[in-house]
Amino acid sequence: MAPAIAAKGLRKSYGDKPVLDGIDLTVPTGTVFSLLGPNGAGKTTAVKILSTLITADSGEVRVGGHDLATNPQAVRAVIGVTGQFSAVDGLITGEENMLLMADLHHLPKKEGRRTAVELLERFDLTEAARKPASTYSGGMKRRLDIAMTLVGSPRIIFLDEPTTGLDPRSRHNMWQIIRELVTDGVTVFLTTQYLEEADQLADRIAVLNNGRIAAEGSAEELKRLIPGGHVRLRFTDPHAYRSAAAALREAARDDEALALQIPSDGSQRELRSILDWLDSAGVEADELTVHTPDLDDVFFALTGDTTLTTDQTKETVR
Ligand SMILES: Nc1ncnc2c1ncn2[C@@H]1O[C@H](COP(=O)(O)OP(=O)(O)O)[C@@H](O)[C@H]1O
Ligand SMILES: [Mg+2]
Repeated sequence: MAPAIAAKGLRKSYGDKPVLDGIDLTVPTGTVFSLLGPNGAGKTTAVKILSTLITADSGEVRVGGHDLATNPQAVRAVIGVTGQFSAVDGLITGEENMLLMADLHHLPKKEGRRTAVELLERFDLTEAARKPASTYSGGMKRRLDIAMTLVGSPRIIFLDEPTTGLDPRSRHNMWQIIRELVTDGVTVFLTTQYLEEADQLADRIAVLNNGRIAAEGSAEELKRLIPGGHVRLRFTDPHAYRSAAAALREAARDDEALALQIPSDGSQRELRSILDWLDSAGVEADELTVHTPDLDDVFFALTGDTTLTTDQTKETVR
């Protein structure tokens, strides 16, 4: 089967500033692909190009088997886009927003009504359907946004930062919605700043950095790119920190945080030997945490950027 999305050598500059500097992407049909990167990395630019909203300076793209340059209409017929900024009109009700979409897709009146009712129900918006969308919470607006995207029954959906700004509960809600889309056979192209989100949802992840794909693979493959975990010792007393650092020469130092990191696979055996070793060296840390590698480490290793963070501490020993 042809991939849902295949892009080769995609380039886009604004003025003399390259935003996408020759990127290749392949998204198999029926999978979730996550384009991961910090603010300003070029995620929205990529989504806009792939969804025909803007044109690339160069590169070849096929979406749903159609050539983007020669047949953008055919591409538009198979895709849906939920932009980073809501397409919801706050002045009209949720239901009216849905009916407007049905009109845009030229659905017959009756079918449009039925689709609107079904989708509002599916996204738990039936009760709010007759209220102005401006009164909706962030999570409700996002759900309405996706419901509107689904009116045309797209086979390929672009979701640009669908959970940015949502509270944890709405975020989990959105993850569930995305999983259900995939169960229905839809291909999802998802951008996110959250490593955890890509880890949770994506079959494949591409890390966008400085206009290029810095790494691509499954979450597991990306995690394998980087060295193993470590034990982190944190001190509150600078003297205690310095003498521990002198005793543990092989530990990596973080002078600012008064923390030392000792490479470790996190196994019970290694932990015991580290603890024994700390005892014999007379080191008394104020906090000891075990850190197993996650996508944060991957991102850090690839880009040297720490702006993307999730909770890195997997297990607090004491
Ligand atoms: N229309 C535009 N004109 C000029 N610069 C732009 C335009 N759109 C985006 N940019 C710049 O391109 C870079 C990537 O933006 P964007 O694709 O929105 O990143 P992201 O979605 O990853 O946050 C940013 O530096 C942004 O300022
Ligand atoms: Mg963006």
